[in-house]
Amino acid sequence: MKRTLFLLGTLFAMNAFGAAPDIYHKGWIDLNKNGMKDVYEDSTQPVEKRVDDLLKQMTLDEKIGQLHQNTYDVGAEKIYKDEIERGDMGSFFGGGLIIETPIHRNALQRIAVENTRLGIPLIFGHDAIHGFRTIFPIPLGQACAWEPELFERTQRISARETSAGGNDWTFSPMVDLGRDPRWGRIAEGFGEDPYLGCLYAAANVRGFQGTNVADPESVVACMKHFVGYGAAEGGRDYNTTEISEFTLRNFYLPQFKAGIDAGAWTVMSAFNCLSGFPASANRHVLNDILRDEWHFQGFVVSDYQAVEQLIPHGVAADANEAARIAIKAGVDMEMVSSNYETLPQQIQGGKVSQATVDEAVRRILRVKFIKGLFEKPYTDTTRYKDAYLRPDALVLAEEAAAKSCVLLKNEGDALPISKRAKKIALIGPLGDARAEMLGCWASRGRPQDAVSLATGIRGKLAAGSKLTVTPGCNITNNTADIKGAVSAAKEADVVVLALGEPRDWSGESKSRTHLGVPGRQMELFRAIVATGKPVIVVLFNGRPLTIPEIDTNAAAILEAWQGGVEAGNGVADVLFGDTGPSGRLTISFPYDVGQIPIYYNHYNTGRPGIGEYKGNYVDAPITPLYPFGYGLTYTKFDYGKVQVSPSRLNPGGTLTATAQVKNTGDRAGTEVVQLYIRDIAATAGPRPVRELKGFKKIHLNPGESKKVTFTLSMHDLGYFDPAGHWLVEPGKFQLWICKDSASGKPVDFELQ
Ligand code: GLC
Repeated sequence: MKRTLFLLGTLFAMNAFGAAPDIYHKGWIDLNKNGMKDVYEDSTQPVEKRVDDLLKQMTLDEKIGQLHQNTYDVGAEKIYKDEIERGDMGSFFGGGLIIETPIHRNALQRIAVENTRLGIPLIFGHDAIHGFRTIFPIPLGQACAWEPELFERTQRISARETSAGGNDWTFSPMVDLGRDPRWGRIAEGFGEDPYLGCLYAAANVRGFQGTNVADPESVVACMKHFVGYGAAEGGRDYNTTEISEFTLRNFYLPQFKAGIDAGAWTVMSAFNCLSGFPASANRHVLNDILRDEWHFQGFVVSDYQAVEQLIPHGVAADANEAARIAIKAGVDMEMVSSNYETLPQQIQGGKVSQATVDEAVRRILRVKFIKGLFEKPYTDTTRYKDAYLRPDALVLAEEAAAKSCVLLKNEGDALPISKRAKKIALIGPLGDARAEMLGCWASRGRPQDAVSLATGIRGKLAAGSKLTVTPGCNITNNTADIKGAVSAAKEADVVVLALGEPRDWSGESKSRTHLGVPGRQMELFRAIVATGKPVIVVLFNGRPLTIPEIDTNAAAILEAWQGGVEAGNGVADVLFGDTGPSGRLTISFPYDVGQIPIYYNHYNTGRPGIGEYKGNYVDAPITPLYPFGYGLTYTKFDYGKVQVSPSRLNPGGTLTATAQVKNTGDRAGTEVVQLYIRDIAATAGPRPVRELKGFKKIHLNPGESKKVTFTLSMHDLGYFDPAGHWLVEPGKFQLWICKDSASGKPVDFELQ
């Protein structure tokens, strides 16, 4: 007590003269009986020594407290004061009215740091999936830019804002493979390809954690949801998944490994039952793979009450069993539910070992030390005042919104629109929408900060041009003024129809059984098409939609996703040609929901193709409306013959593949040149008919041509067997350099 008073006195004196040290540094280090800092309080000591020193001083109750996380909101410091002072809390995350100033966080933290025996700081999490206040396009949209480095930049800004808001940790990236657009969370991930998913997962971790995760502007990343969540049967959220080990290894796990290899310090266990046992108690993935194979050193947090949910899953009879199987499987921190409170008596009863609990606590303490929370437990409260919506963030948000757009159709060069167009009609329920631009999981994003398409278009028009804006109908319900919209279309030179989904039809617990444009939007579309004007459709949606009728009857279709606060400006940049469309789909668009799951990297089956006794549908094609990798530009690109050298690759060698790509149109454009391979015969299981193994975004002026070169190592030709071994096997391969997963001619090569 004496020392604390002394320190307080000193601080007061210094403060009086304005010389107060940064009071957000921990000034209240208690000295031990030898008048020395404890090892765990000494930042010059190695982290593992600090963890050991602290762990051995902790009581069992204090250890269990570290395993517990709850939500917090304004005023939480009163609600949780006693719990924190007892050492019963290890972490909070922003729930409800999500906090955007660090005031409440610091108040909670002060209780933990100053009013508890050991002063172990809390760690504060938050769901910043694609921005905090500056909301960027949904991750599925950003993936369509095929620019991981751009995603790293947008997520760095997310980290800057999220940390300013008082958070040390974000529950992101969501890296679940997405093959089923009925599932609302497809918006949060990167689509159907593991190669691209790995690049985006790693870029996201680098963006969040930066070069130093202890930097006040960095936040700890969290790889979620481990694992297989996106394979929910029926596309219905939280539903059961059945994923063979072979498919898990080659399609669902690589993105998590890429994020962990990029340095992610946490993983979130998933809600779903995974091939017969719930992911949040599945020792095979949580321990055998994550720990024993991958040597992950961070900690696992359960998803929201996922430990408690082991009871309705039917694998735990009560809280004791739920806690026991989860902690033993490798779930270190329990989000919101409190079944881990049963652990002390289970240890006493010999049902759970002290070592198991100690290991979980060790992992959590390790991350808290590495994040620097013992040295800087408080967020500087001066940062948030000018941290949000900075000019650099908005410029990047506009760039990301434009680059996320995918041009799906452009008949008769309906696009780009001339800025000298005299009369433009912007019709449709999403034309002047702002909230809908933010998409799901929009953290502290505010509709008033979002630029609508109408505003974006207004910013492009020359003086004297007239923009008429009319919704024509509601997004989902039956209110409509289709007549009014038709007359606006008839008077216009250019008709833009902004259609799509409400943003709250994406995200958690938002599955759909039909994937059409909802409400009376198709009735509106037909009425506008009937005017005979060429119709430019802009889609704002969080998942692939089934739009065969729009594909047939629109002059142009631009997939804009939910582009964030600068959506209107980014989409207008593309519509008017200030930015050429460069996006390519990272997820297939089905013709019909009945085709799902449909994805490009499928197995060949024993009866490939279509025809008598083949795998046909009698009422639909077996191919998607738009394939993975597809996207148009405002020009044309021709691909020359693919050259592969050597055509017979020796072990240890590298293979070079080249193709000449030429801009044969009359506008400059950006092409995403894609490299695919196929392993014709693999001993541990079939390989996909195509696998993305590289891509290059190139910008060519009209008439310009470029030789695009890819290099593949032997390792790149391998795949996982069900036991997780990476196999590289001799045999025949095919290779494509092409514009999407359904185009190009393969060349053969052989691995000796
Ligand atoms: C939710 C989501 C998860 C999120 C967590 C905290 O249920 O499944 O993605 O990070 O709870 O909000």
